[in-house]
Amino acid sequence: MEQIYLDNAATSYPKPAQVAEQMAQYITQVGATINRSVYGRAQQAAEITLELRIRLAKLFGVQSATHVILTPGSTWGLNMLLFGALKPGDHCIVSAMEHNAVMRPLQHLTKKGITFDRIRCDVYGRVDLHHLESLMKQNTRLVVVAHGSNVCGTVQDAKSIGEICNRYEIPFCLDAAQTAGHIPIDFSELGLSALSVPAHKGLMGPQGIGALLLKPDFAKTLEPWVHGGTGSASHEEVTPNYMPDRFEPGTPNMPGIFGWNGALQYLEEVGLEQIMAHEKELCEYFLQGLAGIKGVKLVGMPTTEQRTGVFSLDFSPKDNAEVAWQLEDRYGILTRCGLHCAPSAHKTLGTFPNGTVRFSFGWFTTKEQVQAALKAIRELA
Ligand code: ALA
Repeated sequence: MEQIYLDNAATSYPKPAQVAEQMAQYITQVGATINRSVYGRAQQAAEITLELRIRLAKLFGVQSATHVILTPGSTWGLNMLLFGALKPGDHCIVSAMEHNAVMRPLQHLTKKGITFDRIRCDVYGRVDLHHLESLMKQNTRLVVVAHGSNVCGTVQDAKSIGEICNRYEIPFCLDAAQTAGHIPIDFSELGLSALSVPAHKGLMGPQGIGALLLKPDFAKTLEPWVHGGTGSASHEEVTPNYMPDRFEPGTPNMPGIFGWNGALQYLEEVGLEQIMAHEKELCEYFLQGLAGIKGVKLVGMPTTEQRTGVFSLDFSPKDNAEVAWQLEDRYGILTRCGLHCAPSAHKTLGTFPNGTVRFSFGWFTTKEQVQAALKAIRELA
């Protein structure tokens, strides 16, 4: 039985051919790290690393490529942000739709005297902008919001959130784990101080690498979270202040850098417009098909507006985990069931603790695959 991969919100699959090609090229023909040596292959590694930073800066409208910090992933970048920005006595605001990449570090920080509040969201997972304003306090230092929900695909009105944060002069960080590579994101237009993205989801790169893009004045206030050798200022035992070295100790994930650069080359060739149009068509088709099926409840936005191709379905009173298992066993359809590392989001959507079955589409998902999913849902509901 041919398998149908509908778990792109977890990690995108398949990857563009360039990803494996460039990772293999690095491992077999380059093999050198950056900043540490002066021979030609080290120079080649440095050039690709710079190329990647420039591609990311261009894609997200950041002026300075030195403020594109390469991280071991989005969770790492968000930890860097929360641990680096918040001090005892500080207050942070998050949405009620956050993933544990934000909630777990934040819960840990409460042990160190940091407090936080959650912005109320409606039944579709959209933040209540008035509530956000009412949560602003004298000691609020940071607002962090998941741009797209990993549970149900709802996309927040980041521009309005940014306007409010800027009016109160509070740094705004957007967690774009589920929107980067799916919809346009412009750092300045959204009034961001920080933007966190993983390589391996909509940006089609490999796992284990991500980026934290920083506004220059905000970067100066952020304390480095990890310290170590940078290959620069080697005569000193303190972390250099300049960018990006201030936030990039240790040997970077070089195969990841080459692979992600290849993925972004591909993305540029295809174009975000075309990706968006394709995903919107799949969403329309899926929503139309779902409308005629009884015995299954869609969680989140019921139209293609303000959403990505991430859909949560509740098959109760059937066991959602049993449904997910049958989807694979009988139809070869790969989904993710349960709470998706986002208990707060499921509480907001009324699907805690039972969770949902999540179907998530990507650029390589075809209409035929969505059709097969609808047929399976109809039979299982
Ligand atoms: N956060 C990722 C997901 O939703 C891993 O599956």
